[in-house]
Amino acid sequence: MIVAIDGPAGAGKSTVASRLAERLAYRYLDTGAMYRALTWLAMTRDIDLGAGGKLGALAEENPITLDEGRVWIDDTDVTAAIRGSRIDRVVPVVARHPEVRAVMRARQRELAEVGDAVIEGRDIGTVVCPGADVKIYLNADREIRAKRRLAERPEIGADALATDLRLRDQSDAERMMPAEDAIQIDTTDLDVDDVVSRIEQLVKSQQPA
Ligand code: DC
Repeated sequence: MIVAIDGPAGAGKSTVASRLAERLAYRYLDTGAMYRALTWLAMTRDIDLGAGGKLGALAEENPITLDEGRVWIDDTDVTAAIRGSRIDRVVPVVARHPEVRAVMRARQRELAEVGDAVIEGRDIGTVVCPGADVKIYLNADREIRAKRRLAERPEIGADALATDLRLRDQSDAERMMPAEDAIQIDTTDLDVDDVVSRIEQLVKSQQPA
């Protein structure tokens, strides 16, 4: 079974998707972490972030591994390094290139083909796995999304973070459309566990008896 969880930054995707994967004993695939890892490598190697072809080739030559919550690229564990505010700001620039997206999409599909996974991203239900068994689109008011981000990145400050979030929303917007058959959940006033339980029920109702 493939469960696709899409939505904007701060909607609760990571917490919900990882907890759901744990409950179902499915793999958890964080596709945002893949774009972040590539961004980290490009910055480390000083590659022009406007050069889509070069970045696509870099992605092709350096497959990303997601393993038990750890993220690897170029034989380096980048799990912590990719969560900095610098990567937050730059990753949409890298993720925008069609050459990058093509390589990522292929790799994500390869990972999905193994089966039983909760896959988190922006375009999973629409592009990467349009045939996913359960498609969820999480959203929340921007104010609450900014608050959640602030809890993760207290060093940035509320104003800068709100601006960052708005810019990221704009830049991610073209990839943030919910799939037509996605179930939309507004997490603004919901508890994580309630959201997880609701999706778990949906998954169980799809499983063969
Ligand atoms: O979910 P996140 O903040 O870790 O995502 C990082 C960036 O990658 C964000 O700018 C959106 C982009 N992304 C994407 O374009 N497609 C995906 N499937 C996942 C993330």
